[in-house]
Formats: sequence, C-alpha cells, structure tokens
Amino acid sequence: MAVADVSVRLGKLKLQNPVMVASGTFGYGQEYHRLYDVNQLGAVVTKSISLKPRPGNPAPRIYETPSGMLNSIGLQNVGLKAFIREKLPFLRKLKGPKVIVNLAGESVGEYAELVAALEGHREIDGLELNISCPNCERGGIEFGVDPKLTEKLIRRVRQATRKFLIAKLSPNVTSIAEIARAASGAGADGLSLINTLLGLAVDSESWKPRIATITGGLSGPAIKPVALRMVWQVHRALPRVPLIGIGGIFTAEDAVEFFLCGASAVQVGTANYVNPKAPLEILQGLKGYLKERRLRSPEELLGKIKAPAVLRGVPQAVAG
Ligand SMILES: Cc1cc2nc3c(=O)[nH]c(=O)nc-3n(C[C@H](O)[C@H](O)[C@H](O)COP(=O)(O)O)c2cc1C
Repeated sequence: MAVADVSVRLGKLKLQNPVMVASGTFGYGQEYHRLYDVNQLGAVVTKSISLKPRPGNPAPRIYETPSGMLNSIGLQNVGLKAFIREKLPFLRKLKGPKVIVNLAGESVGEYAELVAALEGHREIDGLELNISCPNCERGGIEFGVDPKLTEKLIRRVRQATRKFLIAKLSPNVTSIAEIARAASGAGADGLSLINTLLGLAVDSESWKPRIATITGGLSGPAIKPVALRMVWQVHRALPRVPLIGIGGIFTAEDAVEFFLCGASAVQVGTANYVNPKAPLEILQGLKGYLKERRLRSPEELLGKIKAPAVLRGVPQAVAG
C-alpha cells in the first residue's frame, strides 16, 4: 500500500503534515535548523513576540517536576522590530512549513498594533494569539480566562488581519468550551490548546519556592490527560472548528490520541528539550502508524475516539 498522505487541512490553511512546534520551545526556528532541516515540519510557531523587547523573569525560572516542567520565562523575546529585522529573514526562506507568529500583548490595542505591523509580511501564514497574558487595562486578569475579554480581543484583531488567526487557549479556566465558543464566535479561524497549567513547586528543606516568581506554568507529559480532555470537550462543542492539540506530546502515539479526541494537528513543546528531533520522530512514527492500519490520512483519525454510547450524552465524566 502506498505511503499515507500526511497533509492536513486546518480550514483554509493546508499543512504538509500535522506536526508543528509549540511557541517558546523552538526559539525563532533558526536555532533548531542547526540540528536538523526544519523544512520537514508542518509549521514553525515562533516564541511569543511583544511590541517591546522583554528581558523575561529573574532566575530560577525553570524547575523539573515528576513528568513535567514548571517554567516562568516571562515571555522573554526580542520585540517586534528586532523580530522583523533579525528573525523573519530566516523564516522567509523556509520551504514547506507554514510560518505562524505567536503574539503577546498587554492590551487589546497592543495586540492590534502587532497584527497590523505584520500584516504586510507575506511569508507569515498565520498568527497565534497567546491569550494567557495579563490585560494591564483590567488589573492584570488574563484575557483567556474571561469569555468577554477573549471575544473583545479576537474581534478587534480579526478586523486587523486576513491571515489565518489562531487563538491559543489557557487551560486555567472552569469551562474551556465557553472560552472556545467566544474565540471562535469572534472570528478565530482555529484554536490551539492548551497553554501551560498554573503550578507551584517548593523546597521542603529551604522552604523556598523553586522558581523566582513562585508560580509558573506546568508542561510536559503530566498535562497530557488535561489537554486531551479539553480538546475532546471543545471538539464536541464546536465540531467544525479546526483544533491544534498541545500538551505532553512526545511520541507518535501521543499525537494519535490528540487526533482521536478531535485535533487536526499537534504542537510539540517540552519534548524539544528532551529530544530536539522529537517532532521528526513523531512524524515518522505517525506515517508508520497510518501505514500499518492502512489509513490514508491522519484526517481519518479525527474525532474517532470510541466513546461508549452510555456516556455520549454526559457532558463530563467526573472522577471518583
Ligand atoms: C519554556 C517554555 C516557554 C514557553 N513560552 C511560550 C510562549 O512564549 N508563548 C506561548 O504561547 N506558549 C509558551 N509556552 C507554552 C507551550 O507552547 C505549550 O503550550 C505548553 O508547554 C504545553 O505543551 P508541552 O507540554 O508539549 O510543552 C512555553 C512553554 C515552555 C515549556
């Protein structure tokens, strides 16, 4: 049997394969190109870009936890101007992967300004809004935990761009479907989920928190079941909206689990730190998985989780 066609469609965005890399774990793409040909990826997602350069949070800002890592990098990045001048030329030369620029703002106006500045750059295929950022106009509440703020932000940004617009959802909410509905209703073309889960680690000897900002974002295998649950919930609520699954994806089987729960593509994050070639190995493994099962495309897995009939009408199975 012929090799499966691994290209996938996210609405109007066609990817050569469904394996993307997650923002903040892959620099600006160039760094990893020294290790392998990043042209093989489905898409490169940049570190979050802000209007002004950001030095990030004080150290220590990373701590390894069982099956995961806690980070509080603080959105360190070169800022919009240097991004355009120094980082975009490399991304422009890529052949194959879509280029997605992840954006972080402190106000609706700041996001709109970022989007407007990038609109004319044709090498950028899509924008991913990191909405897990504090809104400084509203006492620092994160955009992505409030459906009204989410809606307002996406609506404003939608007016400023014709590029493929992805809202990256925060898992630190009670109802992920409610936020997803707000983002999609306001004009997002796709949703990526999840960002990191808020966590804390403390040293029982020194009684000090393990990272300088006390709390940080948890990522890695520890969060995969939460991410799968959220992808599944959002896919059930909005079956037509393209979803990108993120959270603890280290192997092809992990990626398959996300497709089964309703994701059309995946992003690989923390795994890049453990094995820089993880995205390529996941892609190879996925091809093997499809071939062994005589499946022609990853799209044949989309949302195919076999939920028992008795649970189908139940909005959420509760533990215990
Ligand atoms: C060190 C580190 C830095 C990150 N920086 C960003 C960022 O700048 N913007 C963003 O949207 N997400 C950022 N993330 C979140 C990841 O993109 C991803 O959503 C999360 O880590 C879950 O995926 P994973 O378990 O595969 O790492 C960061 C994650 C890590 C571990």
